Amino acid sequence: MTTVEEPVHQFPMTRTCPFSPPPAYQEIREEEPITRVGLPDGGRAWVVSRHEDVRTVLNDRRFSADRQHPDFPQLVAGGFRRQGDERTMITMDAPEHGPARKAVLGEFTVRRMEALRPRIQEIVDGQIDALLAGPNPGDLVEALALPVPSLVICEMLGVPYAEHDFFQTHTAKLIKRSTSPEERRAAFDTIRGYMEELIAEKEANPPDDLLGRQIVKLREDGTYRRASLAATGFLLLVAGHETTANMISLSTVALLRNPEQLALLKADPGKTLDAVEEMLRYWTIVDAATARLCVEDVEVGGQLIRAGEGVLALGYAANRDPGAFDNPDDLDIDRGARHHVAFGFGPHQCLGQNLARMELQIVFDTLFRRIPSLKLAVPVEELPFKDDANIYGLYRLPVTW
Ligand code: HEM
Repeated sequence: MTTVEEPVHQFPMTRTCPFSPPPAYQEIREEEPITRVGLPDGGRAWVVSRHEDVRTVLNDRRFSADRQHPDFPQLVAGGFRRQGDERTMITMDAPEHGPARKAVLGEFTVRRMEALRPRIQEIVDGQIDALLAGPNPGDLVEALALPVPSLVICEMLGVPYAEHDFFQTHTAKLIKRSTSPEERRAAFDTIRGYMEELIAEKEANPPDDLLGRQIVKLREDGTYRRASLAATGFLLLVAGHETTANMISLSTVALLRNPEQLALLKADPGKTLDAVEEMLRYWTIVDAATARLCVEDVEVGGQLIRAGEGVLALGYAANRDPGAFDNPDDLDIDRGARHHVAFGFGPHQCLGQNLARMELQIVFDTLFRRIPSLKLAVPVEELPFKDDANIYGLYRLPVTW
């Protein structure tokens, strides 16, 4: 029997167009912007869909990021809760979160990122050389989108890039919704185990890379633990390549489909950073990663949310909210999209955002300058979008020139 408690919507919701959020997002935002949904494991959570409300939730400490709490909303059936040393800053609340984030924050400042710019440019040029020297049509995911951020994060951390097949394969399993609980746990343990071994090797004579510098710094502070540095290394490695890779491939498609926007970009490279912000807003590839658990009764947008209830702050719904962006479904690189929430908001706002922005900026400036004739090699309808993953993207992007 259907009761009034039965939620109308089930999460995750289905898209009908690869370039737009599921139609239910708009429906919810317009009709009941904070609404209860069913979760894959049979649980319930509130969905928050308006830009203003999403920012409120993500910036309020009464909404916890503690993913190991038994009541935290589970977005995949059979997801597992990380324990003890497996936890990282992304699952921590104040007062634990601040010091964990601060420990690596200095590695991601704008200044640090600027120092990396020449090397990132070199990596991008090298990958484009290889694309041009390879078969035409070629796969932009394999040739450019995946290797660029993978190479960059490997060099930053001090992870040998030769291992990329290994960690890319296991990361892909982690983000695919259909991965079984056992496979998910195994993929997690495998990357973590690899990270621990790598860090153990660095301990005797810590090199001048992010992990080496962390060993030295944490030892000085008297807080060094190999297992927890391995958890941080894991988070940075996974977050550092898969996200940006998908943004590169999706944004390339968006620009090729909107030639007038691409022409604006080509005419004035000064617009690239604005275009990057707009791409981040338009795609919002990690829509529901910003889940939270309410730990104290709180009213948001006129709705009472009680302690113990889960909340999904839907970044993609917020970033297509007409209350925050005019004609939100249009791609408009001149709109000034910086207030998007694609990197989250509040204390957990993406630590790697300066790096991601720079990588995207360099890729788009270089790609369209060096291959002005770039086009899709197959119709859009044939592109394999990642509808089955927690991070949206493309499995392959066949291009020709
Ligand atoms: C376009 C690329 C990226 C997108 C869209 C993205 C998105 C996000 C989002 C939405 C969050 C917030 C999660 C939450 O509130 O629970 C986040 C957090 C985080 N991201 Fe990213 N990210 C990207 C690239 C990166 C890169 C390149 C790195 C590292 C090299 C990175 C490292 C992190 C870390 C460490 C956190 C956790 C911060 C904290 O809990 O204090 N991300 N990211």
